Amino acid sequence: MIPEEEVEEKIRRTAARISEDYQGKVVHLVSVLKGSVFFTCELAKRITVPVTMDFMSVSSYGDQTESSGVVRIVKDLDMPLEGKDVLVVEDIIDTGRTLHYLMNILRDRGPASLRLATLLDKPDRRVVTVEADYTCFEVPDEFVVGYGLDCAQQYRNLPYIGVIESESK
Ligand code: IMP
Ligand code: MG
Repeated sequence: MIPEEEVEEKIRRTAARISEDYQGKVVHLVSVLKGSVFFTCELAKRITVPVTMDFMSVSSYGDQTESSGVVRIVKDLDMPLEGKDVLVVEDIIDTGRTLHYLMNILRDRGPASLRLATLLDKPDRRVVTVEADYTCFEVPDEFVVGYGLDCAQQYRNLPYIGVIESESK
């Protein structure tokens, strides 16, 4: 769906915007495992203001295809967020349920600012209002993999964004 060069170019431009917006500040990246690690690294490498990073892992209760919006923190952040300029880094916003819940949890921890960067956005699927401050690509309602995104834990390592086609197609 999106070739490697295009993904990298867009991340470069997003990092430039972030560097501009956070002039004079330290941007504290909060990467949501596991899907956003590839995007987080590529983004962090290209940000020119000072960067600190932390990771958390959440699991959303729900079935295979739909998240419920009730999020369990599987691995919490190591560092407090109080007073930090926090930028949450996500792989994809789908229904928005997971992030809506997560952003509320993080906001309660008293960051100086809280923003959201996502590699992909599937606006057609949105159930709960979540707006990213930085979006690299809007994608149609198809199941995408690569650049951190998985299908049954595979394909995360693809250096591009691909689509899973069903055999019946
Ligand atoms: P939400 O709560 O529906 O927004 O769930 C978002 C999460 O669902 C993402 O962080 C992904 O882990 C997963 N997800 C949603 N759409 C896709 C997709 O097309 N490919 C892979 N994972 C997806
Ligand atoms: Mg995810």
